Amino acid sequence: MDKFKLFTISAFCILGLIILYQQLNQVQQTSINIPNESEELTEHTELTSVASTALSPLPPILDKWRVWPPDIRYAICRPKIYIYEIPSDIQISDHKKQRCTGSNYNAELILFDQLSSPNSSPHKLYVTENPEEADLFYIPFFGSCYLFNCWINNEWNQTKRCQVDSVYLEPLMNYIIQNFDYWNKTNGMDHFMIHPMDRSDNYYEKKEMFQNAIYLTIVGDKRNLEYQTFRRYNNIVIPSATPILNAHNVNPLKYVGENGNPFGRDIKGLFRGCCANVNATDAYSDGIRHVIFNGLKRLPGWDIEENSDIEEYAKLLARSKYGLTPSGWTLDTTRIWEYFAFGVVPIVIADGIIEPFEDDIDWDSMIVRVRRSDVHRINEILDSISEEEYQKKRERVWLIGKYLVINNGYAWHFIVRSFCRMLNIIKQELIDIEGYTYDSI
Ligand SMILES: *[C@@H]1O[C@H](CO)[C@@H](O)[C@H](O)[C@H]1NC(C)=O
Ligand SMILES: *[C@@H]1O[C@H](CO)[C@@H](O)[C@H](O)[C@H]1NC(C)=O
Ligand SMILES: *[C@@H]1O[C@H](CO)[C@@H](O)[C@H](O)[C@H]1NC(C)=O
Ligand SMILES: *[C@@H]1O[C@H](CO)[C@@H](O)[C@H](O)[C@H]1NC(C)=O
Repeated sequence: MDKFKLFTISAFCILGLIILYQQLNQVQQTSINIPNESEELTEHTELTSVASTALSPLPPILDKWRVWPPDIRYAICRPKIYIYEIPSDIQISDHKKQRCTGSNYNAELILFDQLSSPNSSPHKLYVTENPEEADLFYIPFFGSCYLFNCWINNEWNQTKRCQVDSVYLEPLMNYIIQNFDYWNKTNGMDHFMIHPMDRSDNYYEKKEMFQNAIYLTIVGDKRNLEYQTFRRYNNIVIPSATPILNAHNVNPLKYVGENGNPFGRDIKGLFRGCCANVNATDAYSDGIRHVIFNGLKRLPGWDIEENSDIEEYAKLLARSKYGLTPSGWTLDTTRIWEYFAFGVVPIVIADGIIEPFEDDIDWDSMIVRVRRSDVHRINEILDSISEEEYQKKRERVWLIGKYLVINNGYAWHFIVRSFCRMLNIIKQELIDIEGYTYDSI
């Protein structure tokens, strides 16, 4: 018996030694395969420093039509838009509309007001009273306002629909299809409407009635999801309304001053929003918010909570260098508009997102994109951005972002550029846009 034990022990020892030897060998082999990094690094650094002293920047392009991102006064076309007037017994009542100013989804009302007010710059440039000469037809459908009123009246039960199809959608679409022949002429392809909620037209059982129209939506998504709400080449992504700016009507200038507070920002990264209890494997935000609340939140410089009151949030925004915009149920993140309004550089964590007006806005010059697989490295990624680079982004956020925040009245000029491309109307024209001063060079 003893002999057998001894034999077993020694057999194990020998086996152990063999494994140890093999592992050591592997370690040696891998370390031999690693290139000499320090050598390579110095070589690169020398090369770039030589390069940057030897080269000077190219002169600006003089032909402004060739510049990207464009100065939007150099218009692709100036389409004529006809706005259907919907009889008051079909349309949402003024009382209901009034309530919707408190909704997160009132982009549909804000944009409607901007285009239909006779004195607005987009109205003067694009609206026609004569449908015969129109390139585009605007269906003033306020479905999210209808549903907002429905949910308020039903203790915020968002599965309720309050007969939106039979009471609102069908009468409205029938009115347009029966009384005018413009819908039938193109089967609705030159008609457009706004769907400013996460699930686009999926709130409506009769959505097939208007599905040929172009949608202006707040979610842009390149992923190939089974339950896809975004139609890549039929939709235009627009900025969304946000509570602090569009329901509480906070004025950012009161907090950041006229210059956007370039240097007085002592918070590294800010986030206010759901959901501290998300797990890494949850579908909600694909687990991203798990890392935010269970990792980033503990690091110095970060201010991360689920809620804060509006006044406190406005003050924090004015003090923050960066703000997180992680995806939630969908890829869009309303916080990005608050960051733009307050001069905060957004960190976008939403792989596959399509931001509004990507054909006309150089998004990567203003934001920091972090992929889901790098979320745990956000702090290091920010540390690797120089102060100079940060200031460049912040300045562009401040200068360009104001044209993208929905209540500022410029969104239509960008929407129209997308229409020109979709309808393939290329008729360049220099237009005057009131209050627009940004020269992209
Ligand atoms: C890498 O290169 C540096 C500089 O030439 C040298 O000092 C160092 O010994 C090298 N390291 C290895 C592992 O070869
Ligand atoms: C919400 O409304 C749906 C549809 O009417 C109903 O089935 C459900 O019970 C309601 N939920 C609550 C929590 O009241
Ligand atoms: C458009 O087509 C529909 C369906 O064929 C029809 O019911 C409607 O009357 C047509 N509209 C006009 C204005 O002719
Ligand atoms: C997350 O996972 C933990 C442990 O598996 C579980 O106790 C908890 O309920 C989960 N949280 C959520 C929001 O699903």
